[in-house]
Amino acid sequence: MKKLMVTKLLGPQAQEQSRGIRADEINSFYGKLLNKARKKESVDVGKEAMNLVNNIMCMMSMGRRFSEEDGEAERLKGLVTEWSGLIKRMLLAVLFRRQLEKIGISLFKNEIMRVSNRCDEMLERVLVGHKEEPDKDQGKDMMDVLLAAYEDKKAEYKITINHIKAFFELLFGAIDTSSTTILWAMAEIINNPNVLEKLRKELDSIVGKTRLIQETDIPNLPYLQAVVKETLRLHPPGPLVPREFQKECEIGGFYIPEKTRLVVNVYDIMRDPDLWVDPLKFMPERFLASSKSGQEDERKEKVLKYLPFGSGRRGCPGSALGYMVVGTVIGVIVHGFEWRIDGDKVNMEEVMEGVILTMAHPLKFTPVTRYVPCLRNETESHI
Ligand code: HEM
Repeated sequence: MKKLMVTKLLGPQAQEQSRGIRADEINSFYGKLLNKARKKESVDVGKEAMNLVNNIMCMMSMGRRFSEEDGEAERLKGLVTEWSGLIKRMLLAVLFRRQLEKIGISLFKNEIMRVSNRCDEMLERVLVGHKEEPDKDQGKDMMDVLLAAYEDKKAEYKITINHIKAFFELLFGAIDTSSTTILWAMAEIINNPNVLEKLRKELDSIVGKTRLIQETDIPNLPYLQAVVKETLRLHPPGPLVPREFQKECEIGGFYIPEKTRLVVNVYDIMRDPDLWVDPLKFMPERFLASSKSGQEDERKEKVLKYLPFGSGRRGCPGSALGYMVVGTVIGVIVHGFEWRIDGDKVNMEEVMEGVILTMAHPLKFTPVTRYVPCLRNETESHI
């Protein structure tokens, strides 16, 4: 399943094929901001980012949006939040299993079943819809690829309907991790006017002022990439990465029995003063490779100290997509608008929501249009 995920569902070719979907959703998001700017209304960045990423993921995976009108989007968001809350408690259960086993484990099981059944119901509807009416014009979405693999009798690895459901549950994780990163990046940019200035300069010179930034611009925008990386260093949405030892072993002279649970605190590693210069400072420059020859050394070194996407076999298979989506959305907000916030600085207080580290207070600003680019027709219709 992981192989299928990395190659067919999230690999470079799949990303290329779904680029149009993301561009439409990002254009529509831009239209919303433009509308707010015209009406001088404030925008809740976290809420809008969540809606956007939600729509992107649902379109890419199931070929449909969860409409805001009939409350479906709200229900899906509710499920994402509940799921995340449940995972946090499961993480605690993993750590304190013996103590918990005596008390609440059956209650916990009921809750898992309740959320899981609701996910199942939602996915069942989508699955049936796909089998009855495969997308003819929109091209393949992830559900089509998975159903084809499920029905392929000669497939190297057989997948079951439960695998398909499990994959979609994992995808829920992509929604709040990406939207939280957008939120933190905007907060850091607002609090660091020098970063904003450099970013705008780069965007104005590479993208210009006649069009909207596109995903294909990202490789030519090293400073924007560095801003996203630095945001993830200081504010990893998943600060704790759990593992279990499959075999007994010895590490640094300590004996580790089989099945020992380990939680890696990537938040602390990425703020460790022994590993990073001025670790608490927001300095995207640290990610601008100094020289060609130094690049490979830096890459090797960062494998051990830069872990916002986890690492190894269970590492995040959506990191390239995550960078792309977050970078493009930040580009749209920074390039297209000035913003007014209440007060001088954004309050950076943190809170754990489920397993996600997010901002304790909503970030709201009123956008002011910098320029209006030429847009494709479908974008105008959302304005
Ligand atoms: C900024 C965005 C994102 C961040 C910070 C993030 C972070 C993470 C982290 C920390 C893990 C656990 C890794 C480990 O245990 O070593 C993970 C797993 C995962 N992520 Fe992401 N992620 C992001 C975006 C995405 C996207 C866009 C997708 C897919 C569309 C995705 C799909 C997954 C999946 C399927 C897993 C489970 C992998 C497994 O258990 O084998 N993620 N992510």
